[in-house]
Amino acid sequence: MSAPKILSTGRCLPARVVTNEELSKTVETSDEWVYSRTGIHARHFCEKESGLDLAMGAAQQALDRAGLKPEDIGVCLVATFTPDYASPSMACLLQKHLGMLEDTLCFDLNAACAGFLYGMKTAHALLRDSVRPYALLVGCEVISRVLDMTDRNTCVLFGDGAGAAVLCRDEDAQWHTVFGSRGDPESIWVQGPGPDKAAVHMEGKAVFRFAVEVVEKSIRQLLEAEGCGINDLDLVVCHQANARIIDHVAKKLKAREGLFYKNMDRYGNTSAASIPMALDELVLAGELKPGMRVLIVGFGGGLTWAGALLKW
Ligand SMILES: CC(C)(COP(=O)(O)OP(=O)(O)OC[C@H]1O[C@@H](n2cnc3c(N)ncnc32)[C@H](O)[C@@H]1OP(=O)(O)O)[C@@H](O)C(=O)NCCC(=O)NCCS
Repeated sequence: MSAPKILSTGRCLPARVVTNEELSKTVETSDEWVYSRTGIHARHFCEKESGLDLAMGAAQQALDRAGLKPEDIGVCLVATFTPDYASPSMACLLQKHLGMLEDTLCFDLNAACAGFLYGMKTAHALLRDSVRPYALLVGCEVISRVLDMTDRNTCVLFGDGAGAAVLCRDEDAQWHTVFGSRGDPESIWVQGPGPDKAAVHMEGKAVFRFAVEVVEKSIRQLLEAEGCGINDLDLVVCHQANARIIDHVAKKLKAREGLFYKNMDRYGNTSAASIPMALDELVLAGELKPGMRVLIVGFGGGLTWAGALLKW
């Protein structure tokens, strides 16, 4: 199947770092408890920054690295479940503040932690019929805005951040994808709108079971479509919710040590931002290079999941 090409990436995090140690002063928890169950030591929380500030920072980096100007973009999508406003969309705000042309197709999409891959699929489809051949895709979340900081079951898990990518049409690029959704407002949900009600609720064990099921299944489907084994891949980048989910799947698939990337120790679960942030980190570290075979998997609220196997 023809695929979009990722030309560049970018990332932006709020300045404030909140450690497990700091959280343990306000809720009954400890670094040992959180790290041993999730692999998370710290996360960034917005203090002064808006979601738009994060999205702008990540988007500008991605544009600069692609050598493009805002006027070159034909499609602008923001994947988020924590936009600054219900309306206008984050994508419309980006259009104005970055200076994209008024005929740029701008909208937000909500597929929770699978949002970046849903965004790639959507951008790819829209680029076929776009006024200009480049799409800007941003995963941006300010989850601290919807956390109940007295609920230790959820407040230790999430963080804020943004990751961006510039995509273009590429007639030669190929990928395999899988997508799924399962309406389930009981395992993980965000009540809203309204500041008193807005909070993430989660049945941790149910979400864990769902995640390991769909991540393993998606990876097996993609490997079968590609006709290769797990250890023929160069890199697997999963949504960074929890190290135990990733380790569990990696073990079941008999993946070699280090194949599955993990960075949730520093960022927590940043939902739609986690995959583009991880890709950006890998590119900058020189660990993700052109020609590498990469498998990407997202999963989360909805429930939703998505996977893609592509050549970088
Ligand atoms: C959330 C998660 C880490 C909880 O781990 P768990 O082993 O399932 O823990 P449980 O929910 O059974 O809770 C065990 C105990 O720890 C307590 N606990 C929960 N959060 C705690 C915290 N931050 N610190 C200390 N204790 C905590 C619970 O209250 C419970 O206590 P109790 O036995 O006295 O009632 C785990 O279920 C998980 O990772 N789920 C997936 C979550 C996820 O990734 N969601 C996002 C998907 S996009």
